[in-house]
Amino acid sequence: MRIAMIGTGYVGLVSGACFSEFGVEVTCVDKDADKITRLQQGEIPIFEPGLDQLVKSNAAAGRLTFSTDLNTAVKQADAVFIAVGTPSRRGDGHADLSYVYAAAEEIAQAIDEYTVIVTKSTVPVGTGREVERIITKTRPDAEFDVASNPEFLREGSAINDFMRPDRVVIGAETDRAKEVMRQLYRVLYLIETPILFTAIETSELIKYAANTFLATKITFINEIADLCEQVGADVHDVAKGIGLDGRIGKKFLHAGPGYGGSCFPKDTLALVKTAQQYKSPLRIVEAVVDVNDKRKTAMARRIIDACGGSVNGKTVAMLGLTFKPNTDDMRDSPSLSIVAALIDAGARVQAYDPEGMDEAKKLMPDVIFCTDAYATMEGADVLAIVTEWNEFRSLDLARVKASLSTPIIVDLRNIYSPNDIEQAGFEYHCVGRPAMARSTSQ
Ligand code: UGA
Repeated sequence: MRIAMIGTGYVGLVSGACFSEFGVEVTCVDKDADKITRLQQGEIPIFEPGLDQLVKSNAAAGRLTFSTDLNTAVKQADAVFIAVGTPSRRGDGHADLSYVYAAAEEIAQAIDEYTVIVTKSTVPVGTGREVERIITKTRPDAEFDVASNPEFLREGSAINDFMRPDRVVIGAETDRAKEVMRQLYRVLYLIETPILFTAIETSELIKYAANTFLATKITFINEIADLCEQVGADVHDVAKGIGLDGRIGKKFLHAGPGYGGSCFPKDTLALVKTAQQYKSPLRIVEAVVDVNDKRKTAMARRIIDACGGSVNGKTVAMLGLTFKPNTDDMRDSPSLSIVAALIDAGARVQAYDPEGMDEAKKLMPDVIFCTDAYATMEGADVLAIVTEWNEFRSLDLARVKASLSTPIIVDLRNIYSPNDIEQAGFEYHCVGRPAMARSTSQ
């Protein structure tokens, strides 16, 4: 089997590398010649644990190649995956499909023999049909089928998610297309991964419904955390108590500063827009989007309150900037809203993140970036933990206390135990757990 992966962003690169590990011959194509040259030299443009090794070994074995030549890659392929970006369209929140449609047109021009054109990018319901229409219009003689094969990869554990998925969803409607897709995922059949064949529209909606459900689950526990604080309950125990019910499940019930990243914020918004367009509003999801947006700024308020109601002229030390650990991705990270609100309130922000600082520097011009966690705390009035990187979980508390000018910690990821921190002489603020008395102005 041979495939072309159009787009070497996060999804394209991870999927391309993983398919090649399955034994498929993969050409990853991108218009960005510089990126392709760097990939050919073994340089990986994103931080994803294990990806560099996977790319290196499969490239060395000759199964994974990188090219700017879409035409040749498509001509040789049994299936062509569209994995280009679908950013939120500026102004209206709809997914911007211009890259997907441009790719469809280019692919159409190159097709020689029967090919399955697969959308891998997260695309709104109806996109597969539009891709089909574009290809038919561009090349009425082309022999092809369209399929939808959404990805369920989490940044930071994407390779494992691809190799050992809970399920694979494939929207394909002809036996021929289904057979090509079955061959591509043959390795997963052998380990009995559930593979769900559906209509194209259904497959497209499954992706959005999955991300939206997870975003709803997180937002639900975040609001329960707020309530816990008011009634003196502990959100960890509530999450455990409900999560042990098999119908609810214990995952994605960690309260925190709100969800971020390149997927949940964009996908929840796009699904709300699709639902409005089809006059079938999703009021729950509308509330989720609103609550999550407000939560990010409420977190800044929490830091301000911990400083006695004002951060004007004060220094906030911030640990963690990426939207979650094990990624360098800053897209829609809660830290962006938190930093903006703190700077607006007159604070000086010193920050450190193990992988996200190169990107953060472009987005947070007013922040002072430090070389490690302890340098960040030097002389600060409060320490705020925003992303739960492992290296922040076992800080030397005596050193933290000596570095800060006032021993206050705001732990937005609940990575410390309130007892341990208070015994070490800190004033400790966390999320949804009984800790120090907090002002009610948030
Ligand atoms: C998410 C989905 O989990 C993947 O299945 C999906 O393929 C991907 O989007 C996508 O559509 O491409 P990702 O954005 O990498 O993956 O990150 P998650 O691990 O899902 O975390 C998203 C956000 O939710 C983060 O900000 C994280 O801190 C937050 N989160 C997650 C919580 O606040 N609490 C939790 O319990 C779990």
